[in-house]
Amino acid sequence: MKKIRDKAKERMKGACRLCAVCDGRVCAGEVPGMGGLGTGAAFRNNVAALAAVTLNMRLVHDVCDPVAAVTWLGLDLSMPVVAAPIGGMFNFNEALTEDAYVRAVIGGCRAAGSIGCTGDGVPPVIISSGITAIKNAQGHGIPFIKPWESRELDEKLEQAIASGCKILGMDIDAAGLITLRKMGRPVGPKSLKELTRIINTVKSAGVKFILKGVMTVQDARLALEAGADCLVVSNHGGRVFAASPGVAQALPAIAKAVKGQISIMADGGVRNGADVFKMLALGADIVGIGRPVTIAAIGGGCEGVSALFATLKAELEQTMILTGCGNIEAADSTTLFKA
Ligand SMILES: Cc1cc2nc3c(=O)[nH]c(=O)nc-3n(C[C@H](O)[C@H](O)[C@H](O)COP(=O)(O)O)c2cc1C
Repeated sequence: MKKIRDKAKERMKGACRLCAVCDGRVCAGEVPGMGGLGTGAAFRNNVAALAAVTLNMRLVHDVCDPVAAVTWLGLDLSMPVVAAPIGGMFNFNEALTEDAYVRAVIGGCRAAGSIGCTGDGVPPVIISSGITAIKNAQGHGIPFIKPWESRELDEKLEQAIASGCKILGMDIDAAGLITLRKMGRPVGPKSLKELTRIINTVKSAGVKFILKGVMTVQDARLALEAGADCLVVSNHGGRVFAASPGVAQALPAIAKAVKGQISIMADGGVRNGADVFKMLALGADIVGIGRPVTIAAIGGGCEGVSALFATLKAELEQTMILTGCGNIEAADSTTLFKA
């Protein structure tokens, strides 16, 4: 991983400083770029909220070969981790083309027994590269589209479904993206009625639906009511609303309200296998990784991404041993340390 990170640093020419701890301090306000919006507080909150969680260390047990594999939305995965959707490589000093980036993410995740998500935005090369990569991977990828308005939304939905994907997502929190606002592009919140219509369109094509950008119990209940198969507790990596709490802070209440009725993904600030475990213990069924995947893809392509996933899996398994969890189901709230 060190070689991969060094290469990424060289290729990104300052667009990301590859700090020892990726917590949004140095890149505060760098949107576009790798940072968090404004003061960068929401990005920092994600990392700080996870750091504040500690786990019960248990060693008197017989768990030596924990099983990290899970089935999620009908997919068999080697561990409950996926690559979060990230787009806009042109913001990283052309470190990689959009096509090469999504190929690395989709291919690297697949090689690691996982699945990669792809993003959307302006210019259209972001979504078209993702869709092409997913098509070429026989539908093994999850395209995320933005909450566009009117005809543009339906066109993008059609395009995404045509990729052959089995699961499709919408990052509803992109309504707060400064990059799109600056370009005068029509994205916005969706009413329950409109969200239900979108989800029905997707599901009638035999495709499962993920709603990304849920930070409250109210929105989680509405996602469930609208018929989503999965929601993502996410603040877009701190890029849309600086006043947002850390994801790990918002997750437990959401899990308490809807766990078991809808699948729960969480992303934001996850940097290692112990962080993955913490999100699971706080109530997630599956965990998304953003910036570390981008760095791995830029520094090492497909192999970089699969190397990162191998590292995360080894760290997750080690955490499972140290908490006495033989499988992912056991990674529940009883593993959280409470003084
Ligand atoms: C540069 C960049 C671009 C992103 N583009 C998208 C996107 O197109 N669609 C989307 O749903 N999320 C996008 N995200 C948010 C990520 O999917 C994810 O929520 C976030 O990066 C998770 O936080 P982490 O990077 O701390 O792991 C982007 C994030 C970054 C840093």
